[in-house]
Amino acid sequence: MLSLTVHAQTRYEIKFIQDLFNSDLLIEDCKNKASQFVIISDDTVSALYAQRLKNILEQLGSPVHVATFPPGEHYKTRETKAKLEEVMLNARCTRDTYVIALGGGIVTDVAGFVAATYCRGVPVIYIPTTLLAMVDASIGGKTGVNVPQGKNLIGAFKQPHCVYIDVDFLTTLPTVEFNNGMVELIKHALIRDADLFAELERQTLSLQDKNQLEHMIYRSCEIKRDIVEIDPEEKNMRQLLNFGHTVGHVIESVSHYDIRHGEAVALGMLIECYFSQQLGYLVPKALARIKAVLATYHLPLALPDTIKQVSWLDYFKMDKKSLNSQVYSVILEDIGRPYIAGGKYAHLITPDLLAEAQNYS
Ligand SMILES: NC(=O)c1ccc[n+]([C@@H]2O[C@H](COP(=O)([O-])OP(=O)(O)OC[C@H]3O[C@@H](n4cnc5c(N)ncnc54)[C@H](O)[C@@H]3O)[C@@H](O)[C@H]2O)c1
Repeated sequence: MLSLTVHAQTRYEIKFIQDLFNSDLLIEDCKNKASQFVIISDDTVSALYAQRLKNILEQLGSPVHVATFPPGEHYKTRETKAKLEEVMLNARCTRDTYVIALGGGIVTDVAGFVAATYCRGVPVIYIPTTLLAMVDASIGGKTGVNVPQGKNLIGAFKQPHCVYIDVDFLTTLPTVEFNNGMVELIKHALIRDADLFAELERQTLSLQDKNQLEHMIYRSCEIKRDIVEIDPEEKNMRQLLNFGHTVGHVIESVSHYDIRHGEAVALGMLIECYFSQQLGYLVPKALARIKAVLATYHLPLALPDTIKQVSWLDYFKMDKKSLNSQVYSVILEDIGRPYIAGGKYAHLITPDLLAEAQNYS
């Protein structure tokens, strides 16, 4: 079994296992650990997988509860968090309860945040069921919810106790969501690994070759792991992981979440590549290669008019990544090579360049 150890605030394992529910791994890892288990999931994933997970955990003899919420960014809220906490309070969950997040990045972000604050912190295990959550959201400890003022503005750092990555969950994932997850894998290649990007150019990933897919997910996790170990709380190097997200989060908010996270990040990466080009770093040939790989996964390459028409500045000002109301972005020198100067990983973008970029594409 492949596994990766992460040392970021705490130490935990990312375990790669196909057919998790037919293995003894969960039983072995959770034996004698918790007085109760709370599986947090969204309604879609719960209908597919929660009962099987519940049956497995019940073998351990502790009560197992399932708490769900509707899928989608509109439910990634403080209200949802409060409802999940009510379930746990009513079940008299104490500090020795384990939360198990079963779902995509929305579930891991919300369940992780619940676990961060319930009884001032209980352990959380992540079982990501989307590609995006496997390669990105379940690693690194960022948790949180959206508020009307912006995305992920309320949250906490909370490292998971363990992460199980089972590509078999992806067999039920709609293709559009698979493609959405590819964006974060492509992002990891762009900020850190030109060879991984070249591999992505050579072959289109799909479930047809699960071992190859698992290998690429592993490499992507390794890239994120290496960065968050150096800078767990995003004081410097972790800003690289925000490539595409500075603009992407604004696009998501402006679209009222009609545009999926990964798709918004794909557009965000293209705009941040435009910054990189205009500032004299990235050459047009590199941008063409990036667009070609995004196109393979049917990701958007042009901003919808509705997004162009709204002023972005107020959204940027509320973004966590802004400093003194100024916008900072990762800049690429080349594929796999971000521009780093004076120890800075994100660079000032002038309002003029921002306005120009909004009308580009
Ligand atoms: N914490 C982090 O570091 C981090 C990193 C990247 C993204 N995120 C967050 O992740 C979220 C996006 O995550 P996502 O793209 O996984 O979205 P998601 O959680 O909304 O899942 C996408 C959709 O797929 C469905 N689904 C999930 N797994 C399924 C399966 N196996 N079979 C069938 N349907 C399934 C869900 O019900 C949902 O409708 C965003 O809110 C983003 O902010 C967090």
